[in-house]
Amino acid sequence: MERAVVYVTLFGLLLALVTTLPIKEDWDIYSFHINSTVTSRYATTVITSRVANRMDESKEIEFHVRIPKNAFISKFRMFIDGQLYDGAVKAKEQAQQEYTDAVSRGQSAGIVSSVGRTLEEFKTSVTVAPHKKVTFELTYEELLKRRIGKYELQIHARPMQPVKDFKVDVYIHEKAGISFINVQGGLSTKNLANAITKTHADKQAWVYFYPTEDQQKTCDSCGEQGMNGDLVVVYDVNRKASIGDIKKSSDGYFVHHFAPSNLTRISKNVVFIIDQSGSMSGRKIQQTRIALLHILSDLAEDDYFGLITFDGEIFHWKRELVQASKENLDGAKEFVQRINDRGATDINLAVLEGARMLNAHPREGSASILILLTDGDPTSGVTNLGRIKSNVKEAIAGKFPLYCLGFGYDVNFEFLKTMSLQNDGVARRIYDDSDADLQLRGFYVEVATPLLTDVTMIYLGGTNLTQTNFSQYYDGSEIVVAGQITDNNVETFIPQVVALSRNSKVTFSETNITEIVSDDLIQRVWAYLTVKQLLEKELQLSGPEKDKVKEVALELSLKYSFVTPLTSMVVTKPPGESTDVLHKPKEGGTHTNPQRGSGLGLAGGSAGGSHSFLTTSAIIQQAPSIVMHSGAAGRLHDDSHRRKIYPDFGMMPTAVEMFYEMEDDDLSTVHFPPTIVTATAPTTTATAPLSHRFLLKAENQSIPLCFDITGNERLKLLHSPSRELSVNGELDSVADGGFTKIVIRVKADLYIDIDVNNIIVRDGQTLTPHTGEELITAGSVTVIKRNKEVDVATGDIRIVILLHERHGEKFLWPVLRQHPSDNSIEGILALKPAVYEELQQTPSSRLKINEQEVDVDRSGAVDYSIVSRPTLGCWLVSADAALQRPLDDFIVAQL
Ligand SMILES: *[C@@H]1O[C@H](CO)[C@@H](O)[C@H](O)[C@H]1NC(C)=O
Ligand SMILES: *[C@@H]1O[C@H](CO)[C@@H](O)[C@H](O)[C@H]1NC(C)=O
Ligand SMILES: *[C@@H]1O[C@H](CO)[C@@H](O)[C@H](O)[C@H]1NC(C)=O
Ligand SMILES: *[C@@H]1O[C@H](CO)[C@@H](O)[C@H](O)[C@H]1NC(C)=O
Repeated sequence: MERAVVYVTLFGLLLALVTTLPIKEDWDIYSFHINSTVTSRYATTVITSRVANRMDESKEIEFHVRIPKNAFISKFRMFIDGQLYDGAVKAKEQAQQEYTDAVSRGQSAGIVSSVGRTLEEFKTSVTVAPHKKVTFELTYEELLKRRIGKYELQIHARPMQPVKDFKVDVYIHEKAGISFINVQGGLSTKNLANAITKTHADKQAWVYFYPTEDQQKTCDSCGEQGMNGDLVVVYDVNRKASIGDIKKSSDGYFVHHFAPSNLTRISKNVVFIIDQSGSMSGRKIQQTRIALLHILSDLAEDDYFGLITFDGEIFHWKRELVQASKENLDGAKEFVQRINDRGATDINLAVLEGARMLNAHPREGSASILILLTDGDPTSGVTNLGRIKSNVKEAIAGKFPLYCLGFGYDVNFEFLKTMSLQNDGVARRIYDDSDADLQLRGFYVEVATPLLTDVTMIYLGGTNLTQTNFSQYYDGSEIVVAGQITDNNVETFIPQVVALSRNSKVTFSETNITEIVSDDLIQRVWAYLTVKQLLEKELQLSGPEKDKVKEVALELSLKYSFVTPLTSMVVTKPPGESTDVLHKPKEGGTHTNPQRGSGLGLAGGSAGGSHSFLTTSAIIQQAPSIVMHSGAAGRLHDDSHRRKIYPDFGMMPTAVEMFYEMEDDDLSTVHFPPTIVTATAPTTTATAPLSHRFLLKAENQSIPLCFDITGNERLKLLHSPSRELSVNGELDSVADGGFTKIVIRVKADLYIDIDVNNIIVRDGQTLTPHTGEELITAGSVTVIKRNKEVDVATGDIRIVILLHERHGEKFLWPVLRQHPSDNSIEGILALKPAVYEELQQTPSSRLKINEQEVDVDRSGAVDYSIVSRPTLGCWLVSADAALQRPLDDFIVAQL
């Protein structure tokens, strides 16, 4: 530190590159990236952490992250001093034998542990020589499951330190089109919401989360150790009322997503079996009552229901099922109010009685459901788990599903899970927490609306299929089947779904199979689903059958390099260090109590302290998306995307058709009304090569505005007098370009000049060129150069300058990734999203922007704020109308 100060005073230079880092710890995570790519609901996430040992001695450096429980880790690598250490997935037993030493030392075994409701913790460490760096890279994969009408991608961000270069990039591609996308989770609240930008372009969506170092310390649940929370990307896809999407790879694997929504609900017969044993006393029984009262209110009038409570005995509200009339519900609610804890737990008796009630009430064209809620092991009556399972299986005899809700940590979850699986249901944990009633209701909502029963998925000419029979299909869920097309012959491959909707048999057959270019993906989805289902099957079997299933699951886990309960990741380390063997914790097995934090103390730089990482509330908030975009319509002639030759704009089919043609092969899901397709093609920009097109997102509409700025103007990008910061940029004078140069003024005499080749810091008369590979610090501003972008951060502002190239010309494109919380900034990057109304559509369109009415044309613009620069449909307006001010206000005389 002192040395840096001396240099600055003596030479007025900024040599404080490395020394000014806040070295709270003696090791420094200088970069932490999370990159998630979701294609057809299959998410592949890579976490990359780069750490430097700033000490004069060797240091054990830790990598410690949390990933969703449902995911399989598929890769782990470390780069130390130019050397790659690649983790290997091995059969668990083999790994355990080979590395008995490491395992017996205790420290390194079982390093993946289950934490909280949805996460698992992955932890490893390595010794790094003085002043050397290490890069950790972890990849995990998961198939997102649709629940209550949405998919959720959970990303847990807890780098353990504030990180200068921290970012989360999410890219979603769904061929059917994305119907909505939101960002939720603890990290999208309050001041961090400004660090989230979201772009949605029909089939694709991007979410960026770029908090600055300052913000990582000041957000909710953040502190000196930086961020600790979730970012949850929630979305759904468009669907047609048919058999759904079938995608295949060129080598013949296929995945079928089946989620018809245009069906009439089926009335249901539901029996609730509620544990009221002594252990349910206090909050649990209270929450159960609250949840039941709500659930009863949600029953439809044509539903029938039954209610049993049990301890060592069973208690009926009514011995038989009754209709959910108001009178009956009122009676049941009174019964619920009186449920009190007492006695032992006779699960066998209770479930058999529930099954009897449903069996005694056959009703044509309805769906029967049995729901058990319990918080403990069977302690009275039949207590042998095997016998209970066989009794229950016999009583239900495949006629309806059994759902088991295990409340708290004292349940034998594996028993509940097996019993559910044997009876076409699933088990769910209910966490003993303040929101347990919401968890119970949430589960009920998932099964509240049966749409089909006895669903059979048939694939003539298909083989190696995952599960094809499903007892019920509920609104908001999705059935996914994967397999292989025999001999990869699409001609003889005939998919069909047969099911019951009320009383009638329905058949879904007509389909279009789309081919996915990235082959590996479909095959991995197939492998993922197959392994998951084999692991479930294994639970239900015993003896040689169990071994056989286990063997196949193991073989696939190894082949696809999945860390499953049957495999381990062996982390290879430099010579002389103990090997880590990482196991996936068994689902439903022992559970780290989240309140106690993880007690797995590895030596070295443990940040210490335990956190509670349960995110109990996810406040839904949409980030203000002030993103600047550009792209003259003329730029649509992008060779990389072009599939047809359009000699000039006048000959193009229509602007809109063209945009989508270039963006995707499939024209069928253009997301604005088809009438728009007849809108006139943009005529202005094709002949005005100097004009640059900017996009301005709209707050209340899905279609953004766009406007052109002509000439190589110098623009005010971002000015903040209170921060003594100004950012200006100069547009280039070639067609299809962007900015040639961007200048950041930090203080009166301190500038950072960025052009397509160089970064130069100007301090008074002194010029210092930088390669940008090391972090550049100038006043309060830090600059990091990556492959195709320059990341500029100061306080609560983060700007990313993307480097694009078109027709051999390079240009810059600035994007505000982190919008400051105050309003004291101005400039093109600081523009608020537009608010407009559509007054009239084709043939000529008219918008009302604020109070002003303007005529607009449907047009398109390339979104340069995204590396892959998609083309978005937009309303083309004048710059003055879009900016709500004269353009001159945004023009500066000097950079
Ligand atoms: C994220 O991963 C995808 C797929 O591997 C890759 O194409 C993309 O470039 C990555 N993005 C970043 C910002 O690293
Ligand atoms: C949806 O269902 C209704 C009633 O069954 C039917 O009239 C309508 O055509 C269906 N819509 C589609 C898109 O299948
Ligand atoms: C699936 O259901 C069909 C028809 O109900 C039946 O013929 C077939 O045996 C079932 N398959 C499995 C694997 O249970
Ligand atoms: C399948 O594609 C053809 C031509 O692309 C189209 O005519 C047909 O309507 C499509 N069928 C479905 C079910 O989408």
